[in-house]
Parts: sequence; structure tokens; C-alpha cells
Amino acid sequence: MKRVKIHDVLAADAALGEIVVKGWVRTKRDSKGFSFLEINDGSCLKNVQVVIDHTPEIVAELDKITTGASVRIDGTMVESPGKGQKWEVRASTIRLLGAADAETFPLQKKRHSDEFLRGIAHLRPRTNKYGAIFRIRSEAAQAVHSFFHERGFRYVHTPILTGSDCEGAGEMFRVTTLEPGERNIEEDFFGKRTALTVSGQLEAELMALALGDVYTFGPTFRAENSNTPRHVAEFWMIEPEMAFADLEDNIELAESMTKSVIGKVLDACADDVELFAKFVDKQLMPTLDNIMQNEFVRLPYREAVDILRKTKKKFEYPVEFGTDLQTEHERFLSEEKFKRPVVVYDYPKSIKPFYMRCNDDNETVAAMDVLVPRIGELIGGSQREERLDVLQERMAEMELSEEEYWWYLDTRRFGSVPHAGFGMGFERLLMLITGVTNIRDVIAFPRTPRHLEF
Ligand code: 4AD
Ligand code: MG
Repeated sequence: MKRVKIHDVLAADAALGEIVVKGWVRTKRDSKGFSFLEINDGSCLKNVQVVIDHTPEIVAELDKITTGASVRIDGTMVESPGKGQKWEVRASTIRLLGAADAETFPLQKKRHSDEFLRGIAHLRPRTNKYGAIFRIRSEAAQAVHSFFHERGFRYVHTPILTGSDCEGAGEMFRVTTLEPGERNIEEDFFGKRTALTVSGQLEAELMALALGDVYTFGPTFRAENSNTPRHVAEFWMIEPEMAFADLEDNIELAESMTKSVIGKVLDACADDVELFAKFVDKQLMPTLDNIMQNEFVRLPYREAVDILRKTKKKFEYPVEFGTDLQTEHERFLSEEKFKRPVVVYDYPKSIKPFYMRCNDDNETVAAMDVLVPRIGELIGGSQREERLDVLQERMAEMELSEEEYWWYLDTRRFGSVPHAGFGMGFERLLMLITGVTNIRDVIAFPRTPRHLEF
């Protein structure tokens, strides 16, 4: 007999006859002469209801089956007389595959706190909420790939082990091949300084300057000791890079991509998203509709500073030209002032990395950040400095060694072109789509100073 996933059982147009269903028991209810089981196999949010008549053999098997156990059900798919589901399974046999001790199984049928579930990251995907998050996560990743594929972007793989600190923020995890006692921090990877990448951008630029439009989508690492609900040490970043493109093209791409991925997830994961709209954030659907239906606001950094200085609202950090905007400012702009995503651009060059293109005022660079309600910075990007002499000057100012970046400079020596790109934090996008407020809850195994169990 054919095993059918629960998603396909529940979505079927006609009964599929005799089927096998496998999954984990969410609940078991015994009545006189028969029992009801709710089974989930992760293929969708909903459980399939199984009804089984009691025989001495079945009662003996049912006795061993508790919440959390894995089972195999053989039975017939029939129309459900009950409310809320079209189909159910009338079981002929039921077999326990893996027991779950009722005394010690941590996921009981009640609402557990996120904090508690973070402590059992190995089991939390079996709850409704986390199952939904990880299905949405998978669908969002697919949506990212489709978006770029449809636009003719090539998917390139940039290295995770690297020697260069793209962002220049000194937040790299060093990699060593040596035993702890022999550790030589300057030459630790076969004689070279090596670290985990903070961004695939520099290598993506090299690829863009050959293939045209490219993107990377992979894990990136930041050794920042920040315990905020928006930072993790390991996160996934989507980084497109376009040759023959400027800041305006970059902003257009960021807006289209954000909307496209949200739209695809809303279509593909309607049930899962609804769970968040009901139980996590009552404002989720209005927030997402608002993002989908309106143009992102475009706001020069100077004007953003004016707005922040003029508002009556008191911030913890005061703002003036040259201030790196804090989350409180970013959220104010997108959440309170404009009530939709805001693209702030032309930031002061003093607070931005070496690779951003210098504007004619010589004070600002062609940088852009996309700020969204509840989260703040979702995307950071820029047009890149394509002029060799200007780039060299900037690197000298920032005391970066030309020898170390000779390969990067080569692309400006040979056939340089205007180009632009950005990085979107994938987990922050998932926070936006689900309304989840802690980044640790949208990545299966969060890496933070406090979470590194396995
Ligand atoms: O603004 P960032 O640091 O930009 C870059 O790394 C560029 N090189 C990207 C590029 O132009 N290709 O990071 C980009 C995005 C941020 O906007 C944020 O969404 C996310 O990455 N991000 C983090 N997400 C989770 N935890 C952290 N510690 C993050 N740091 C950045
Ligand atoms: Mg940034």
C-alpha cells in the first residue's frame, strides 16, 4: 500500500482509497469502542484525524501510543463527518514505530513559551508554530531563487573561508588548523590568516564583473557579542550584485525582491502564515498588505536626520549628520513616521565601508538601507566604487592594504564598470513575514553567545 503524506491526504479532490499514513501523534482520545488520533507528519500544519475501532490487539497497541510517538496507520480514506476537515482515515491497523515516554516527553498538549522551546531546539520543529516557521523558511528560500532565476540572475557560490573582512568591522571568527597550545593568531590557516566570511559581497562583485547579474545565498558569520532580538552569530544572507547598474537600479531590485518573496510565501504557505496572523501578531496581515501595496519611501539620509531631529519623540541616542542610525531611529521612520518600508540612501562616508561609491559632495556615499516596521534594517547595500583612483584613495584613508586586496583592485584596473548590490538578512525577512520578534525563533539552531548546544 502507498504511503501518502498528510498534506496530500487533506488536499485531495477525491478519496485515495487504501492508504498508509506515517507521522507523530499529536493527540489520542479514547471513546467507547473506538479511538481518535490526530497525526502530523510535518508536510503541513494540519493533522489528519484517524478513527480506529477497538479490537483486543488494537487496544494493546494503542496503550503504548502516547503524544509524540511515531506511528504507521493503514486504512481507508473517507469523507469526514466531523467539522473542520474534508477527509479522515478509518484505520484497519495501527503500529507503533517509536514510543515517546509520556512522563519525560517535553512537548505536552499545551502552549509552551518560546524561551522554553529554545532550550529544546532539537524538538521544537515538532510544534505547530515551529513547523510552520520552517516550512515558511523553506518556501521563502525557494522564492528567492525563483525571483532571481526569473530575472536572469546566476546563482554563484562564494567562499565561507576567507581572508578579507568585507565590512571592515572586525567581527570575524578566526579559523585555525592548529592545536590550541600552538595557536598563532596571525598565521592560522596553513600559514595564512583566515576567518569565516561576514559577507559574500567582494567575491560576488568579481563574479558580477564577468557574468553580469549574480546572487549568492549562503551562511555568513559575525563575531559580535550582541544579545539583541535581531542579531545572531550565524545567519543566511541573500546578496545580489549587478554589473552596469547604479543605486537606483539597486533600490528597485531590493523593493521588487522583497515584495516578490513575501507574495510567493503568502500564496504557498497560506495556512502557516495564518497561524502567525492569529496567534503571534494580529497586525501581521495589514502590515504585509501595506508592504505589498505601497511603494517603498525613498529618503536621503540628510532628510532622515532632519526628521529624527525635529520629531517630539525622545530617542536614547541623539542624531546628527554622521550618526549611524540605531534600531530605535530605523523603527521610528518605518513604523511611526511613514508606516511602510523606507529606503534611506546617501549615508555619510565616515560610517560606511571602503567599497561604497563616493558621491560628488565627497561627504556621502551611494549607500542604501531598507528599513521595515518592527525590525529596522532589513537590507544594506550600495553602488560600488568602480573608479580605481578613488578606491585607492579611500583605502589609504582607511589604512587598508592594497596588497591584500590586489585581486579586488584588478577588477577596477581591467574593464571596470559601475555596479551595485545589497545584502538582505534572510532571518530578518522571515521575522517580517511571520511577525516573530526574536531572530532565534526563525533559524532552527541559532548561534548566539548563549545558544550553542549542538
Ligand atoms: O549591512 P550588512 O552588514 O551588509 C553587508 O554585509 C554587505 N556586504 C552586503 C552587500 O552589500 N552584499 O548586512 C546585510 C544585512 C543586514 O541588513 C541585516 O539584515 C543582516 O544582513 N545582518 C544580520 N542578520 C542577523 N544577524 C546579524 N548579526 C546580522 N548582521 C547583518
Ligand atoms: Mg548594514
